[in-house]
Amino acid sequence: MKSRVLVTNRIPAAVLQRLESDLEIDYHTEKDALSRDQLLDRVRDKHGLLCVVTDTIDARIIKAGSQLRVIANIAVGYDNIDIATAKKHGIVVTNTPEVLTESVAELTWGLILNVTRRVVEGDRLIQSGVWKGWALDFMLGMELFGKQLGVVGSGRIGRAVAARASVFGMKVVFAARKGSNDTTDRSQLTKSLKDSSVMPLDRLLATSDVVSLHVPMTSDTHHLIDREALVNMKPSAYLINTSRGPVVDEDALVLALREGLIAGAALDVYEREPMVNSGLLGLSNVILSPHLGSATHETRTAMADLAARNLMEVLSGNSPITPINS
Ligand code: GLV
Repeated sequence: MKSRVLVTNRIPAAVLQRLESDLEIDYHTEKDALSRDQLLDRVRDKHGLLCVVTDTIDARIIKAGSQLRVIANIAVGYDNIDIATAKKHGIVVTNTPEVLTESVAELTWGLILNVTRRVVEGDRLIQSGVWKGWALDFMLGMELFGKQLGVVGSGRIGRAVAARASVFGMKVVFAARKGSNDTTDRSQLTKSLKDSSVMPLDRLLATSDVVSLHVPMTSDTHHLIDREALVNMKPSAYLINTSRGPVVDEDALVLALREGLIAGAALDVYEREPMVNSGLLGLSNVILSPHLGSATHETRTAMADLAARNLMEVLSGNSPITPINS
């Protein structure tokens, strides 16, 4: 008998084909995501679940899927899944690390360059037909050369962002992990990057010209960037978030942008997606992209492929390739 799998989102045809050759697939192809009730209903008889970051896989869904053996998330982050409950029920959970590192790093740099050089703001100006022409003092931005990039989160993505900084002549500082005085960790982190160092988060915030967030969403990182952190930043600095929305207190950020506590922000993620804090709309010094970090043809195909391989391995009785809770 073939194992039954629920696939909650459209995936590349080649990946689907591979799944279909071994498994019985219940495939949700609609544009609208599965509702909670649909998810509860369709997970009931499944052995595997191939899901995405917008599916909330909480205790209720996990308990409804009483035959589940594997939940393969097509994402590196897994804050959408109740890992503890899955573990309690003996369900393997997997994610898709590494394959999206470069695409998220590229988008991060796209946002850094765009917000500091006011490209989107300039586009809006031209589109609205009010550009009057070149002037020496027109739409000046901040040059990156010689400036400091503060990278908060020294995992794969943070390091990939940092690795690109020297091309722009930027110095990199990483935030030391809370309570960490592990010097080997620090030297490993900075070894491959010529002009980089590690410092406490408050000093990073106070001294960086661009602060880029690359931490996972956990209870420790919720509102890591709050009012106090924003007050601590330079008035000329920019905040970039391609990690998870709730890492930033959006209300505090809106206030900080309005008060000129920082120069601008570029966000790819939001506290309550797809809702966006209305205070962020209409601000000229803000760029908002709709959670596109990993959104390249290459990466999304690789993510779906890795998630599918994880799922098939577990359902064939083998070890997963990239488990979270083994
Ligand atoms: C996307 O946000 C991911 O975690 O992969």
